[in-house]
Amino acid sequence: MNLIDGKKIAAELKNKLKVEVDGIKKKFKKVPGLTVILIGDLAPSQIYVKNKEKSAKEVGLNSEVIRYANDVDENTILKKINDLNEDKSVSGILVQLPLPKHINKKKVIESISPSKDVDGFHPMNVGNLSSGYESSVPCTPLGCYLLLKKIEPNLSGKKAVIIGRSNLNGKPMAQLLLKENCTVTITHSKTKNLKSECLLADIIIAAVGIPQLVKGDWVKKDSIIIDVGINKIDKGIVGDVDFDQVSKRAKALTPVPGGVGPMTIACLIKNTIDCFKRINSN
Ligand code: GUN
Repeated sequence: MNLIDGKKIAAELKNKLKVEVDGIKKKFKKVPGLTVILIGDLAPSQIYVKNKEKSAKEVGLNSEVIRYANDVDENTILKKINDLNEDKSVSGILVQLPLPKHINKKKVIESISPSKDVDGFHPMNVGNLSSGYESSVPCTPLGCYLLLKKIEPNLSGKKAVIIGRSNLNGKPMAQLLLKENCTVTITHSKTKNLKSECLLADIIIAAVGIPQLVKGDWVKKDSIIIDVGINKIDKGIVGDVDFDQVSKRAKALTPVPGGVGPMTIACLIKNTIDCFKRINSN
């Protein structure tokens, strides 16, 4: 079984991106900048944002985190995003989710300029991705896609089953795999007989948030399994895949932690650089 080392593949990608940033600094006499807005004090969000800031700095980007208390009003956030949209030193804007209940997520996402939307959540980027045009692509599915391509450069004709239909993962993942000529099935909480769907798959992307849902007898021998889950249980952090069981049957499998997670952050850096290049190519 091939253990897909996301940490190593992410480090390689970040090294390449660092070389690219050095080239940009020489050519444009400017540094791409990532600004993250973090509202409230949710522990997982604090950790994610710290890791994003650390990676951005490692690669040589300007990186700023703007923090607000949980009770900040929506207009303050919308006004700040408007200022960042206008700020030429900012290439990418990310508002860490989830947001407090009193802030309208849709309004916030739609207020970010599509050209600075490093998350790829703006409807214009979602539409461009689904139409096959150039767009920002959400970082987690992009990371999964790059891991898959490392293992299997030719995905054409493969049957892919995605577990989970979120805007963050499942739906954009489906678009990326369709572009690669996969036959894609998106499953979700109302899917009947999930196990038999999974047994047909050459590739499974598990992104549903249920600890160790995918068992050994759910997967075809020599399939490729990408585990997006990060679930806290008594014995620690586990994914959506039963690692011990599935590793005995799969051709390749991502661990949790150390699989998709590091790739998500590397892809955020990639998206920031790509936004800079698109903004500066006009
Ligand atoms: N919270 C969890 N994952 C993400 C992500 O990819 N982007 C943002 N903005 N918030 C998140």
